[in-house]
Amino acid sequence: MATKLLLITFAICRLIVTVGLTVDPTELLRLVVDGQLSVDPSDVDTASKDFGLMSRAEPLAVLHPGSAQDVARLVRAAYSSAHGFTVSARGHGHSINGQAQTNNGVVIEMSGGGPSGRVMSRVRSGSGRVSEKGMYVDAWGGELWIDVLRSTLEYGLAPKSWTDYLYLSVGGTLSNAGISGQAFNHGPQISSVDELDVVTGRGELLTCSEEKNSELFHAVLGGLGQFGIITRARIALEPAPQRVRWIRVLYSNFSAFTKDQEFLISLHGQPSTHKFDYVEGFVIVDEGLINNWRSSFFSPSNPVKITSINSQGGVLYCLEITKNYHESTADTIDQEIEGLLTKLDFVPTSVFTTDLPYVDFLDRVHKAELKLRSKGLWDVPHPWLNLFVPKSRISDFDKGVFKSILGNKTSGPILIYPMNKDKWDQRSSVVTPDEDIFYLVALLRSALDTGDETHTLEHLTNQNRQILKFCDDAGIKVKQYLPHYTTQEEWMDHFGDKWGQFYQRKMDFDPRRILATGQRIFSPSSSVSFSNHGADKLLSIS
Ligand SMILES: Cc1cc2nc3c(=O)[nH]c(=O)nc-3n(C[C@H](O)[C@H](O)[C@H](O)COP(=O)(O)OP(=O)(O)OC[C@H]3O[C@@H](n4cnc5c(N)ncnc54)[C@H](O)[C@@H]3O)c2cc1C
Ligand SMILES: *[C@@H]1O[C@H](CO)[C@@H](O)[C@H](O)[C@H]1NC(C)=O
Ligand SMILES: *[C@@H]1O[C@H](CO)[C@@H](O)[C@H](O)[C@H]1NC(C)=O
Repeated sequence: MATKLLLITFAICRLIVTVGLTVDPTELLRLVVDGQLSVDPSDVDTASKDFGLMSRAEPLAVLHPGSAQDVARLVRAAYSSAHGFTVSARGHGHSINGQAQTNNGVVIEMSGGGPSGRVMSRVRSGSGRVSEKGMYVDAWGGELWIDVLRSTLEYGLAPKSWTDYLYLSVGGTLSNAGISGQAFNHGPQISSVDELDVVTGRGELLTCSEEKNSELFHAVLGGLGQFGIITRARIALEPAPQRVRWIRVLYSNFSAFTKDQEFLISLHGQPSTHKFDYVEGFVIVDEGLINNWRSSFFSPSNPVKITSINSQGGVLYCLEITKNYHESTADTIDQEIEGLLTKLDFVPTSVFTTDLPYVDFLDRVHKAELKLRSKGLWDVPHPWLNLFVPKSRISDFDKGVFKSILGNKTSGPILIYPMNKDKWDQRSSVVTPDEDIFYLVALLRSALDTGDETHTLEHLTNQNRQILKFCDDAGIKVKQYLPHYTTQEEWMDHFGDKWGQFYQRKMDFDPRRILATGQRIFSPSSSVSFSNHGADKLLSIS
């Protein structure tokens, strides 16, 4: 207890010294009643980093919130203090470019761990958070999707729309969109949210939905953390399937590949027996990648003789589809799949099938993570690039990028799959291309020091620049997903027609621009001090 108090006092001193806070310290003391404000070096270090490992910013302190009220208290203090300080929510820190970091402000560790982990777990497992009647779950904003899944499965229910990887926070993916192979059918994760609790940049804790505070609701979804901090999300559920039939087929002809993908996503309105539940795909420019880190699908017992399919050694494309089922309907599943596969135009000898429990399918990338971690290949820089490419130009993108700029080494998986724009609510803050169908192209690369020049961070970063320049020169109107820009001009260009609305929402909900400054869209209003000079000296004295 004494150490905790000391730590708190220390943290407050640090805050006061650094940003010249004129708030009454006891006001900040009340702020830590439920959780803990920490300046522990290991907390500060964690909050300074992210999955990208390419940028670093040290906060003054880290809040482990014990409740939504803690979040509101901190933001209110930041908003109402004379000089102000910045506040960034951090989900699981899986951003690439410092989006959840802040210099000279406070990072809120939404995903628990740390000393307040116990408190948060009580919040999370609160009774009544799954409603079978309402078919929804109330998730804490910092909760990881894997934990959401585990708790809904106890009721035989599950969310409908996913990301490929489940160790991401609810608030983090909803601030972007949240996409995977289900998006063609159910839309992104932001299309399955019934209601949110949000702490705005004014420090108010508000409930919002389509009916209530609807402007805030739409602003926050895909809002890059700019308008408020999500403390609770009510997520729509469906009956959980038990098993998944997971199929991969190969193409050497890009138009045949995209034609089939587009056909499969056009079936979204059909009854579930007449469509797949998940449609993705990936590009193979490098044979090593057939056993890429995202899954061990093509295992030694299921070897892929690529050379037999790809005698010319060109680029290959893999369509990845699944069908969910219940053990009680297992007898019809083969027929349904066969019926769909006959309509496709893949290389006939290239069908690879596996069958597994639903949870194992959803959690597939975590297995790959563990493998990479064991080889020291997880905590490396990740110069990822995610683009939404309009359907009308996807074949130009193939020629210019997959078959040209990339060469034959890619340093990571390249995902490609189309989505239907009408499943995306245009009132949200997220930006997509201006066509009914657009593709996600995800270049998920890891930089390594192997002595091979093509694996270096510099090489991969240059390649990303080249790809963006190619699109620009060729007039391919791509939009970045998980966008990263450093000037307001670039952000205005990114938002296009939506910029005016985005700006207005910022003025309404975070007028002092204290939230999620790591996105680098708005700089804090001038009265927020960004100077850290002297603070470190003073701290070393104390
Ligand atoms: C291995 C891996 C696989 C991935 N796969 C997919 C995928 O399949 N599909 C997909 O869509 N994305 C995917 N992503 C990207 C992921 O959705 C983003 O990184 C996202 O930011 C979620 O990560 P996070 O919870 O760690 O958020 P953070 O990185 O912690 O935060 C992201 C942004 O959201 C803000 N934020 C965080 N929490 C809140 C909150 N509660 N309220 C308001 N704002 C908040 C932060 O301030 C920051 O600006 C993947 C990322 C990784 C590393
Ligand atoms: C590739 O597929 C397209 C679309 O199915 C088809 O029109 C074209 O003839 C194919 N090209 C080759 C070389 O097979
Ligand atoms: C990969 O590209 C390099 C340089 O462009 C070339 O020298 C090499 O032969 C290629 N390797 C394969 C397997 O195609």
